[in-house]
Parts: sequence; structure tokens; C-alpha cells
Amino acid sequence: SQNPDYDLSTPIPPDSTGLRQSLTSYGDAHFSLFLRKVFIKALGYSEDALSRPIIGIVNTYSSFNPCHANIPQLIEAVKRGVQLNGGLAIDFPTISIHEAFSSPTSMYLRNLMSMDTEEMIKAQPCDAVVLIGGCDKTTPAQLMGGLSANKPILHLVTGPMMPGSHKGVRLGACTDCRNNWASYRAGTIDIEEISAINNELAPTAGTCGVMGTASTMACILVGLGLMPFGGASAPAVSSARLRIAEETGGNAVAALKRDLRPQKLLTRESFLNAITVLQAIGGSTNAVVHLMAIVGRHLDTELVSSINLDTINEIGRQTPLLVDLKPSGDNYMTNFHNSGGMLALLRELRPLLHLNAGTVMGGTIGEQIDQATYIKVPRRLSCIQPFHEPLYPASSLVLLRGNLAPGGALMKASASKRRSLLHHSGPAVVFAGSADMAKRLDDPDLNVTENSVLVLQNIGPVGNPGMPEAGMIPIPRKLASKGVLDMLRISDGRMSGTAGGSIILHISPEAANPSSVLGVVRDGDIITCDVENCRLQIEISDEEIRRRIEKRKAEVEDSRNTETGVQPSWIAREKIRGYRGLYMRSVLQAEQGADFDFLTASGPGLSQ
Ligand code: FES
Ligand code: MG
Repeated sequence: SQNPDYDLSTPIPPDSTGLRQSLTSYGDAHFSLFLRKVFIKALGYSEDALSRPIIGIVNTYSSFNPCHANIPQLIEAVKRGVQLNGGLAIDFPTISIHEAFSSPTSMYLRNLMSMDTEEMIKAQPCDAVVLIGGCDKTTPAQLMGGLSANKPILHLVTGPMMPGSHKGVRLGACTDCRNNWASYRAGTIDIEEISAINNELAPTAGTCGVMGTASTMACILVGLGLMPFGGASAPAVSSARLRIAEETGGNAVAALKRDLRPQKLLTRESFLNAITVLQAIGGSTNAVVHLMAIVGRHLDTELVSSINLDTINEIGRQTPLLVDLKPSGDNYMTNFHNSGGMLALLRELRPLLHLNAGTVMGGTIGEQIDQATYIKVPRRLSCIQPFHEPLYPASSLVLLRGNLAPGGALMKASASKRRSLLHHSGPAVVFAGSADMAKRLDDPDLNVTENSVLVLQNIGPVGNPGMPEAGMIPIPRKLASKGVLDMLRISDGRMSGTAGGSIILHISPEAANPSSVLGVVRDGDIITCDVENCRLQIEISDEEIRRRIEKRKAEVEDSRNTETGVQPSWIAREKIRGYRGLYMRSVLQAEQGADFDFLTASGPGLSQ
């Protein structure tokens, strides 16, 4: 019998699947289908192959992306899984983003990747899609794009790299990159030794082996029900990873039959589960920005308005930190995997989870947990703590508000190295930007003590496009040399998921915005951080704040009329060409995920 997908004689229904989906517009729909078949046949497919459901595989392989080096093998395994289950697998490329090869920052390119992903899923005839990614920004970009495209999506991450070894001590990117570089700078290790360490920090393909952003996002994908339990932690180079890839191919065919589209599958409960996971793993602060961007792509306006930064605190208050991984703890992702990974963690978190949330594998997350084979790892060999014996009692990530951050700010309290700073008042030492900081931070005459609050302005989404991971301001040399390990540091930027300290990030509105309070902080202003009450205050009167802001706004407006001189980024962006101009004019603040206004489900009306 004729399959409607390649029967040219029948009318083409508007939302048909298979080869008939997303026809190129030539005016004549039948001719469009005819032409499509001409070209797909040039690839050697038979009529039988073309009659199957088509599962797209998004290929983000790049020779500039070692975190994705195993993708060719993964694609082969996904194809096997699709085709053993009656589908036809067709892979296609999108851009690939690696942290170290993305100037100015990988975050700058995340939204571009999400657009590429969304549009290629929509443009091409695939009925469901397997998204293969892994490095920090790639999985959020793929989920943002996939959610907006709204075909059934299944995530497959490339998996963590193995740890390396130096003098018998385990090493791994990238917490140990920072520690060892600091030792080299301090003269504790020499050039030969740091070179030897350089060979060992990323010894295999795969994503950073600690609880950085890549691992955090992988765990969150499991929490959202978009990936099987082992999917978050099986090493990139393991046979387990290949079996998960094959399973994902099969799952894609099944998800298509059940029409499990992400706009329907992902509910409020799914996101609550994801945030519970984020708090319990002591995850990356970057993941909060990504989650807000993902939520903003959801068409359910009630869901969008009910999941915001305050949800991070509400869930944080009841969620203990259970996973002992660097940078908060001592271990690597391979230890997490060998301790039972996400299945073991979700079993501990069971009382906090919304067990009725759906999964793309079919069934609810509660059913998945109950049905999975679980073999308990002896306590002394596990890096996952029991629920009642946490590493940190609650709120590893805290959202702060106050007159200095009306739109919110974020702190990874569990990573503080000087707990008194969690309740602290001190005078501000202000740097106007990264260049100013580089120039003055180590000046022996800098007026700073260990109780000062270091303030770095203008590293937010518009002020320094791409919102660099520069929020972990180094301790001024004259204090570091006296043994000061931690200070309260605040900015509108981000920090790497592999870093730690008493650091407040993502302050909104950012300093580049002429209406922001962060932009008018001055040396000596007293700043108070009160984690217990989630407050971040500047101790000056409302009237003084208003006066400073009015003055600054007038100066910024005046800069339009100057013929020479550098304009502030807020004004300059109006005339910048290309992607950079688009980025600076469209990017939202951190609490809206630093997405582009025109990409959110509600569109550009959601302005800054
Ligand atoms: Fe790719 Fe760390 S650089 S995950
Ligand atoms: Mg990172």
C-alpha cells in the first residue's frame, strides 16, 4: 500500500509528518514534495526508508570542541537505536560552542545557537529530534531552541571526561586548572611541573569532570525528565555512554508515537524538580540563568509567572546539599556515576520531588525511579550523602534582593570560604570595569581591607556583551599575601561553575543601565549582605540614590551629542552592526535568563 508520505497523488494535509513536514515553499505543494524526493533520493534512501518516521539528530561535532569529540560514535549509536525501532535517523549540523574557543564568551553565542537549533528543527522534515550536546552553553541553547520549535526532543549529552593524574593525585578540568595555575603564579610549582599538569587536566574527550555548568545542566536535564538517569554521568569514553545513545534513539521513536512535545511535557512540576536537583548538587550559578531562559520560552504564561528567581529560594530552604563534588567538595563526575548517579540522588530526594511529572521516556519520574534497577553503593564508597546527613543543610544557592539589586542577585552560599561574610557590612571599593580592576587591584596603595566589599561594575549582559565569568574578583595581592582567602565580592557578571568564594553575581539591573543602583555605587558606600534574610543593601538614602541616578542619566544622554569620545554601551549599542548590535539591543537581564527579548514566548514586549 502507498505510504502517504511519498504518495504524490493525495492532497497534503497541513501538519503532516515525515517527508511532508515543513515543505519548502515553491507555491505548488505537490511540486515541493516531488522536488524534495528528488534530492533525498540522491542520498541513496529507498522508498521503504523514506516511509519511516524521521528522527533528526543534531550534530554539534567540531574540531574546536574536545568536549564533543565522541559525537561521531554517539551518532552511530543513536542511529542504531532509531533504526532498530523502525525509524529513519538523519543527522544534521548546528553550531558548536566550546568554553575556551568562543570569544568574547561562550554565553555571547548561546542565544545564537538556540536560534540555529530552533530554526533548523523547524525548517527540516524531522518528526522528533535527538539533541547531542554537552559543553556548558550547548545543552541550554538546545533546550531553549527545542522548546520553542516544539517537536518531541530528547537530550543526549556527550558525558564527563575521565580525571587525569599528577604525582599520584587525581586532576580534572577545571577546578584544578585554577588551583594549579594559582600555585604556579605563587611560585610553588615551576614551569616543567605546570606543563606536565597541563597534559593531564583534560585527559580524555568529554565535558569538565567536576560539578561545573556542563555537569549541572546534565543533571537538570534528568530532573526535567528529558534524559535517562545514567545519561547525566556515564563517562564520555564509556561503553555505557554508547548504550545510552542507542537507548535514546529508541526512546525518540517512542516519544514521537506518544507525541511528547516539550511544551506539553514540561510542566511547573518538572521545573520544580529541576531546581530541587540544582540545589541538592550545589550546582553552577550559571544554571540559574539558563533555567530562567528556558522557562521564558514556555508558552504557558501561568507557568512562566510562577517560576522565577524567588522559586530558587523557596526550594532552596527545604533542599540539602547532598553531592560531594568539586568545586564544593572533593570528587569528580566519575565518582558520582560510580555512586549511583542521578538515580541514587533522586531516591534520596524523593520526599521533595513532584513524582507525577512526566518524562520523555514515557511514564512519570516517580514510575521511572521505582522501575529502575538500583544497586546500593556502600556508604563509605559513595559521594552522595543520605538526605538526613547533608554536606550543607539548605540553600546552597541563594537569591538576594534589596535596593542594590531590585531585579535580584545570586550567591552560591555553600561555596563561601569565610562564613562570616554571609552576614556582613563593609565599605565598597569600586571598579568601573574589568580594565579598571586589572589596573588598580594589585596597587599597594589601594584603600582596601579584608572587610571591604569589592564591587565590579559593567560586566553585565549589555555592559560587557556576553556577561563574562569575571565575577570571581581576585583578592588584592597585598591582602592575599597576608593570607586573606575570601572577601565579599559583587558584580553584574557571572562566574565559572567550577569556581568558589563569597561572591554575589548577576546583579540586576546591571551597571550599564543608567537607572541601575549598581552603576552609582561609590567608594566608601556601606554595603550589607544578609544571606539569612536574602538581602543585599546599600546603606544610603533613597533620595541620595535618586539624585545620583538622575545625574548619571543626564550625563549618559549628553554623550549622544558628543562627536568624539567613547559613548557608554547603553547608547553605543543603537548603532553597532551585526550580531553584536543585535545582542546588545535585545539581551534581557539575568533574571530573564539573558535571552533575547524577541525569542521569549511572549516576544519583544518583555523589554528591559
Ligand atoms: Fe566544555 Fe568545560 S569546557 S564542559
Ligand atoms: Mg564553565
